[in-house]
Amino acid sequence: MRLYGTQRIEENGVLQIGGVSVTELKEKYGTPLYIMDEAALRERAGTFKKLFSHEKLETEVIYASKAFMTKAMARLIDEEDLSLDVVSGGELYTALSIGFKLERIYFHGNNKSSEELKFAIESGVGTIILDNGNEARRIQRILEGSDKIQKVLLRVNPGIDAHTHEYISTTKNDSKFGLSIYNDDTIEAIKNVMKADNMEFRGLHCHIGSQIFEESSFMNEVSVIMSYLEKLKGYGILVKEMDMGGGFGVEYVTGDKPIDLTQFFPAFLESIYQEAVKRNLLPLKVMIEPGRAITANAGITLYEVGGTKETLGDKTYVFVDGSMADHIRTVLYDASYEAVMANRMNDPLTMNYTVTGKACESGDILVRNARLPKAKDGDLLAVLTTGAYHYSMASNYNRLPKPPVVFVKDGKSRLVVRRETYEDLVRNDVDGGEE
Ligand code: LLP
Repeated sequence: MRLYGTQRIEENGVLQIGGVSVTELKEKYGTPLYIMDEAALRERAGTFKKLFSHEKLETEVIYASKAFMTKAMARLIDEEDLSLDVVSGGELYTALSIGFKLERIYFHGNNKSSEELKFAIESGVGTIILDNGNEARRIQRILEGSDKIQKVLLRVNPGIDAHTHEYISTTKNDSKFGLSIYNDDTIEAIKNVMKADNMEFRGLHCHIGSQIFEESSFMNEVSVIMSYLEKLKGYGILVKEMDMGGGFGVEYVTGDKPIDLTQFFPAFLESIYQEAVKRNLLPLKVMIEPGRAITANAGITLYEVGGTKETLGDKTYVFVDGSMADHIRTVLYDASYEAVMANRMNDPLTMNYTVTGKACESGDILVRNARLPKAKDGDLLAVLTTGAYHYSMASNYNRLPKPPVVFVKDGKSRLVVRRETYEDLVRNDVDGGEE
């Protein structure tokens, strides 16, 4: 088991994070509780910004806010001078509510509604990433008659299967995202955008997958995309900006081997630069959109143990006061996690537990094989590496209120999302219905 960021074990065996012990956090905020290590978030954001740079290429790191988004997070990303990827009116609203720099907001999504597009355009969002020609026409209709010019990128599908080490031009062609680079209609779509009065075509975007460990997948992306840019140039289409997407994998459990970004980014950017020189594509701005790799390891979820149960089968359960409603990734993706007994970190690990929650469903499993001390009522169990796609994917299944989020740093904690109340849960219910 590895501890991340500022996680430490105190002399009394209690886990601390950001200089605050989890027992104190439990006392102050209750459980379940999402705890985010603010120094680790800032450090990761800063590391991406520092490493993703190249002498001869303009570069930009855009945080994919779907991984974890709150007002405090948007502010942190703004302060760390990264840009922001939003995929919905809700994410956009959150960014705008803290005054995020408009020119640094990138609005994604394969089916943005007309209301969302209007909202983005009227708010002055810097760049909209078009998914298809229909969306381009809708934007043009919204802007018709105005003197506004909206910067746009077009999302393309490079047909790369990120998880097989192979570049397969046909197998990924069933994606719902973007337009295929193997379809000549895509060139027509770009030309139509270029002809439109109210749009400025800046370049392309692609994203080849998520939780990727293979450098070769990203390197394939470079060669496929750069040769496509050369082809486009032959049609008079100049790409000034190329957004290579996110997907950088993280260590969830021992044995996961994320890409070493210190080694990788210089090689990645140099390869883009060399291809751009060879194919006469400079100047070119290059962007990436990490989400998970910035937030995952900075977060833990703290639960209280409510009991254990031995079964006649081969499972012994430890019950915690959360559920799949605040931790969906295990059941949804068969994802693996590590758990610790956060109030007794030095006790011998004598048990193999299945960590389950309180949702009315047998599939409600948070951690499949947790090696832990013998659990007692009132123990504090922490699931590690829950900083990405946990709070953002939480639901109210079983009318469970969503847990709060706290940021911890330098021995202090601050509540950035309040715990939902029962009153919050019924806020939109209309008793008896409304005509
Ligand atoms: N850019 C685009 C266009 C994306 O679609 C995504 C993720 C990202 C960037 C950020 O990818 P990341 O660096 O976080 O891997 N809920 C799933 C992950 C879905 C990712 C969807 N798109 C999970 O919990 O694993």
